[in-house]
Amino acid sequence: MLVHFVLLVWISLMVRPGKAQNFEHHEASHVALIGWTHAGGIKFDCTGSYIGKNMIMTGARCLERNGTRADVVRLGAAVGSPRDFAIKDVIVHYRYQAEYYYHNMAIVYLKEEPQSVSKIFKPACILSTLPTPATQIHLIGRDAEGVFQKTAVELVDSDKCHEYYSPTKKFKYGALLVCCMCARSTTTTTKCASELSAPMQTIVEKNGKRVPFLVGQKTIGRSCGSKIPGIYTRLSSDGHFPWIATIAGIDFANHDACFERY
Ligand SMILES: *[C@@H]1O[C@H](CO)[C@@H](O)[C@H](O)[C@H]1NC(C)=O
Repeated sequence: MLVHFVLLVWISLMVRPGKAQNFEHHEASHVALIGWTHAGGIKFDCTGSYIGKNMIMTGARCLERNGTRADVVRLGAAVGSPRDFAIKDVIVHYRYQAEYYYHNMAIVYLKEEPQSVSKIFKPACILSTLPTPATQIHLIGRDAEGVFQKTAVELVDSDKCHEYYSPTKKFKYGALLVCCMCARSTTTTTKCASELSAPMQTIVEKNGKRVPFLVGQKTIGRSCGSKIPGIYTRLSSDGHFPWIATIAGIDFANHDACFERY
């Protein structure tokens, strides 16, 4: 009887639809979902990244839905150990303006420090330079059906990217500025992270230890299934990197120290 019960629970855990894909801890334990609590449950509508202490980095466009401020962050959903954290406060990039997509960045402060609550939540590092063409980067986050996907992407030269994005109302300077990076998937997959601020990252490996380094977060456009590259906020940009490090109070420029802390 008990054996049957245990077996049933085990089976139901194994075949939860839409949650079947699991990731290595270092790939996804920092990946956060930004949510809004409703009477019927939590509606998640954005992605973010745990970057240390009680801080989640996300987009400025991820803080409000239907006139309501996000109030909860879920960590661990992609590694099978979901845990919700209440949001205490937010800070938006000082140059962000709602009518444009530029400087689409914010830091969300949680009421608790995830790494003190559980060792499985490890903060990601941030790459202070633009990845070289040889760097393998991927996008991680939920697709339109809410399933986590990890998708290899390649950077697209900004001149080339500009051909696809003529300046629009929300992108009045186009995609040429140092603000952004353009990338598209190297495969023909149509399933990849579709939520705003999904992290683009590279895994740095040394002596068998692997650590995620964030390079961008999704801002606009589709990330796969299209020749048209998506646009990502470039974290290493002079207008972004010092801001994150200052607000967070973390020396992200010291890659080795961040690697060691992980
Ligand atoms: C905002 O409202 C729409 C329409 O009612 C709803 O479908 C959506 O889930 C809401 N979003 C959030 C994050 O609550």
